[in-house]
Amino acid sequence: MKKLVVLTGAGMSAESGISTFRDSGGLWEQHRVEDVATIEGYIRDPELVINFYNERRRQLPTVQPCRGHELVAELEKWFDVTVVTQNVDDLHERAGSTNVIHLHGELMKATSTRSPNDPTQIQTLTPEHIDIHIGDKAADGSQLRPFIVWFGEAVPMIEQATEEAMKADIFVVIGTSLNVYPAAGLIQFVSPDVPVYLIDPKDVPWTSGHRYTHIKKGASAGMVELVEQLKNARA
Ligand code: OAD
Repeated sequence: MKKLVVLTGAGMSAESGISTFRDSGGLWEQHRVEDVATIEGYIRDPELVINFYNERRRQLPTVQPCRGHELVAELEKWFDVTVVTQNVDDLHERAGSTNVIHLHGELMKATSTRSPNDPTQIQTLTPEHIDIHIGDKAADGSQLRPFIVWFGEAVPMIEQATEEAMKADIFVVIGTSLNVYPAAGLIQFVSPDVPVYLIDPKDVPWTSGHRYTHIKKGASAGMVELVEQLKNARA
């Protein structure tokens, strides 16, 4: 089977009802990124940041994967698929994708403030215990925090994602403004002869020299078209 790597961003989940960050009405118009999505912001006001992610997390049980997520999962019938997502929701998994790399963390997980990337400190939250509170402790005794990669922090999953991008036979980018590195830089690791598809209703600043086919549609309609276009590439 050919290896197909999909890089997704907030636009992937927009049709499920989760706000993107930089579109008009997006999250970064309502919240200051420096306050809620940086390590400095967390140190300054942990309660504000913990509550911001509690709100995002509480939204998850109220939303469903869209047709686009379902079609990404269906690609596993014909391809060896790896999804590399910048999203912290669990909609790819809930749609049935079995191989998902979360570059920016996962909303349904919590970890230790002292050693956020230590696997022994990471725990999965449950619908019954969906909020993190000030005073909740990780296994190492430090304050429990959201398992989110904030600006100013390392992106440990980028190594695995880079290896996948290098092995891709087909590369698909869905719903990301490609503003945030290192995620946006993954395209640089894709071989020059590999077909690259972009699904996004808008033009995206494309800094890589790699040629690409722009399917200028939303995630669901765009995935319907992509599945059609890939029919000949399935062998
Ligand atoms: P952005 O909000 O920057 O970009 C969203 C992209 O989705 C834009 O290119 C939109 O045109 C596109 N879009 C909007 N509606 C769509 C739809 N229905 N179908 C497909 N595409 C659609 O979101 P990201 O690029 O994901 O990181 O942002 C990257 C990172 O910045 C996030 O992971 C987050 C944020 O700050 C952290 O918080 C660390």
